[in-house]
Amino acid sequence: MTVGIKFLQHLFLLLILFQLEPRVADSNNIIRCIDEEREALLTFKESLVDESGVLSSWGPEDEKRDCCKWTGVGCSNRTGHVIKLEIQPIDFDSFPLRGTISPALLQLHRLTYLDLSLNNFSGSPIPEFIGSLTKLSYLDLSFAEFEGPIPSHLGNLSALQHLDLSLNHLFSAGNLDWLSHLSVEKSCT
Ligand SMILES: *[C@@H]1O[C@H](CO)[C@@H](O)[C@H](O)[C@H]1NC(C)=O
Ligand SMILES: *[C@@H]1O[C@H](CO)[C@@H](O)[C@H](O)[C@H]1NC(C)=O
Ligand SMILES: *[C@@H]1O[C@H](CO)[C@@H](O)[C@H](O)[C@H]1NC(C)=O
Repeated sequence: MTVGIKFLQHLFLLLILFQLEPRVADSNNIIRCIDEEREALLTFKESLVDESGVLSSWGPEDEKRDCCKWTGVGCSNRTGHVIKLEIQPIDFDSFPLRGTISPALLQLHRLTYLDLSLNNFSGSPIPEFIGSLTKLSYLDLSFAEFEGPIPSHLGNLSALQHLDLSLNHLFSAGNLDWLSHLSVEKSCT
């Protein structure tokens, strides 16, 4: 009888180990990407013209499921949320991204770092909704062919520590008092 129980205990232990093992082995392959955020990123991509394939790692295909591995996307190790987006041309000679910035970005509720510098937004204004990415602490939209007024909505970004809007064709509409609420680095020529 005791032998039987011991045997069952061993069997039980083996079963547990057997169950655990694949998961342990899998731990480097865990897909962290959050479904809604992947959808948002794909919508964001759709409004861009990507002639040089900067975003070729981005896609709805099964083997590309983990948006945290996409070029320019950074996720939190802890929560899996997208916290960083940094998209630049591959090199100096390649075509920059063109097109427009989709408000789908607003679905990235934890985004703290956004760098879209060196792309070509072909004379469009800086979208006002950027001011609703409330967690942003770093925003670089420099050298990206933006044109028009600097939206005062950026003044809503209360966590912002770095703002670079330089080398565009911008002007200030009204006063820039809201800029003084921002901390640390500013560059706005
Ligand atoms: C997240 O994990 C990657 C890979 O394990 C590591 O290189 C990186 O430093 C981690 N990032 C943070 C913020 O802990
Ligand atoms: C940006 O794109 C527009 C057309 O959409 C083009 O006329 C312009 O030359 C481009 N600028 C740069 C710096 O590539
Ligand atoms: C953001 O700023 C704009 C313009 O400064 C203002 O009209 C708007 O109400 C603000 N939005 C929020 C959510 O604070």
